[in-house]
Amino acid sequence: MPNRLTVITGASAGVGRALATVFAQNGHDLLLVARSEDKLAQAAGELESRYGISCEYLAADLTDPDAPALVHDAATLGGRDVDVLVNNAGVLHEGAFTCVDLDRHLSLVSLNITATTSLAHLFLTTMLKQGRGRIVNLGSTSGFLPVPALATYAASKAYLLSFSEALWMETRGTGVSVTAACPGFTETEMISTHEGGSLRLPLVPNLSVEEVAAQTYEATMAGRPVLIIGAANRLTVGIFRHLPLPVRRIVLRQIARIGF
Ligand SMILES: NC(=O)c1ccc[n+]([C@@H]2O[C@H](COP(=O)([O-])OP(=O)(O)OC[C@H]3O[C@@H](n4cnc5c(N)ncnc54)[C@H](OP(=O)(O)O)[C@@H]3O)[C@@H](O)[C@H]2O)c1
Repeated sequence: MPNRLTVITGASAGVGRALATVFAQNGHDLLLVARSEDKLAQAAGELESRYGISCEYLAADLTDPDAPALVHDAATLGGRDVDVLVNNAGVLHEGAFTCVDLDRHLSLVSLNITATTSLAHLFLTTMLKQGRGRIVNLGSTSGFLPVPALATYAASKAYLLSFSEALWMETRGTGVSVTAACPGFTETEMISTHEGGSLRLPLVPNLSVEEVAAQTYEATMAGRPVLIIGAANRLTVGIFRHLPLPVRRIVLRQIARIGF
């Protein structure tokens, strides 16, 4: 019996690399995708020797419009089934909207929204034919609220949250499910600051990649629609959503002004 195949984007670092470990620990064969071929090769070698799984990799820039189809072709080579798609690759650019180059905003949209949507369309079509499968999209707690200084990032995650939940509803009873996994700030390169620290919210501890990966795995395999990772993050999202809108806007502006 071949192992189950899981495709993970953004698997060369951070949350994606930790997810690769958790899926390998659970006996999934892997196809890892990111731009850094050297890091992918190293991860694949380590995962194969430590967990006895088969681990392929594909170096691709997912902002290239042809890349999602290449990933799908590699995953379904020889007509094999795909069990899980982890849509994890994403970027964040912090700063007032006009202080960040337009090119960087558009590249964020292209990766966080366009590539994720293309991959979901390709793999969901295949999984529906198979009659089984799991897709998880890495959202964020910022997807629940507009966030000044993270305007395009938070908007991209709001899109993913709405998109994932709609697909979860569409796919009920098909054997396929779509999950939005929403961590708060997590200690990776993505949120490191020029001063050597990390972005963070007042009073909310940053998450580790290990806890994000473990909880994302459980929620994905259980077919849950939405997961907010971390008790403090669930509380913060809950409180913010129940604040009167004018108060919410004042607090969010204050947090963005002080800096995360
Ligand atoms: N860290 C946080 O605080 C946090 C919080 C909530 C949600 N998230 C979400 O979690 C996911 C992973 O974030 P992370 O913190 O692990 O980020 P990260 O450490 O910066 O890693 C990002 C990954 O995406 C890959 N990537 C970036 N641009 C790419 C492109 N154009 N094409 C293909 N791959 C690309 C990177 O590899 P290469 O550079 O090799 O391509 C890397 O493997 C993202 O969707 C992020 O929005 C993160």
